[in-house]
Amino acid sequence: MPTRDLFELRDFEDAPLADGEVRVRNDWLTVGPAMRVRMSAQTRGYLPPYALGAPIPGWAVGEVIASRAPDFKPGDMTLHQFGMRDFGQGPSAAFEKLPSIGSPEDYLNAMGSTGFVAYFGLLEICKAEPGETLFVSGAAGAVGSTAVQIGKAIGLKVIASAGGSDKCALLRNIGADAVIDYKSPGSLDEKLTAAAPQGIDAYLDNVGGDHLDAALANANPRARFAISGMIGSYNQDQVAETMRHLNRIVTQRIRIEGFLPYSDRADLLVAFRERMAAWIANGTVRPWQEVRTGLGSVPNAIQDLFAGGFTGKPLIRLHADVAPL
Ligand SMILES: NC(=O)c1ccc[n+]([C@@H]2O[C@H](COP(=O)([O-])OP(=O)(O)OC[C@H]3O[C@@H](n4cnc5c(N)ncnc54)[C@H](OP(=O)(O)O)[C@@H]3O)[C@@H](O)[C@H]2O)c1
Repeated sequence: MPTRDLFELRDFEDAPLADGEVRVRNDWLTVGPAMRVRMSAQTRGYLPPYALGAPIPGWAVGEVIASRAPDFKPGDMTLHQFGMRDFGQGPSAAFEKLPSIGSPEDYLNAMGSTGFVAYFGLLEICKAEPGETLFVSGAAGAVGSTAVQIGKAIGLKVIASAGGSDKCALLRNIGADAVIDYKSPGSLDEKLTAAAPQGIDAYLDNVGGDHLDAALANANPRARFAISGMIGSYNQDQVAETMRHLNRIVTQRIRIEGFLPYSDRADLLVAFRERMAAWIANGTVRPWQEVRTGLGSVPNAIQDLFAGGFTGKPLIRLHADVAPL
């Protein structure tokens, strides 16, 4: 678990704005589990470890306050990765001008990489068909809660797991057909069998470890597993010996695929956003989010990701004059 003393708030002088650069005042930030992966020198992740003593990068939305790039003007709202700071500055190619559709903070949640991961995992990796049974782990988290709602929207039977009865009750409220409290006593494998006696056809894995093993144990022939991440192991030096059903990959002819849609399939973003905007507009998907205030709340927010302290997407509001949700 990253401890509080690893973080520090520091003032930096603004560098002069170079040709082709923009400066943005950040309004909203978010934190996510992948940040933890970059806090280790041993990472074999797809992105390098964070540089010590430098500002942490991360997703943010904010308003352009100065521009020396022809494609941006003051007042434009942008999505970018100069987060975890009040002001972001860099080459204009590193900033995306936000479409006017939806609220800016939705682009850190259901309209952004969170929603895209849930959408891509279910539609492009699992290729889930109406009537099939989907299992979602980490279901009360950001990706998970979006996946549960997309799953219902496309006609799936959805089994959702989360820690604690309150989160499970919320998941029932958004349409999960069965819920599993993975923190309650008993075997996860058996809980999944009880929740889905018909077996599972598709699995969106946010957790890994015991959840992945339970999904293997309960998979139907030719099940598809979309592995978005494995938050259950990000704070562990050694992964516990929980994988007892790997041979089911062979016997059930299971297809397991990891995916990074934001880096690999940005070409699908426009189509995804159109569909997600329609789902949000007609109430099919209600983005789950929890808001905290001020840059100083970032370290605790990162810790809370791993302690079940959030339901849905953590959002951090930086300025009092941002319209309240
Ligand atoms: N592939 C990609 O492009 C991509 C992009 C974004 C995120 N991801 C991955 O997707 C997964 C979900 O990300 P997210 O942003 O939506 O985060 P998230 O699910 O909102 O993460 C926080 C939640 O994870 C659960 N959790 C934490 N530790 C756990 C553990 N040991 N076992 C089981 N559950 C645990 C907690 O819920 P409970 O209270 O229920 O325990 C917590 O509320 C992560 O693995 C992340 O790395 C992948």
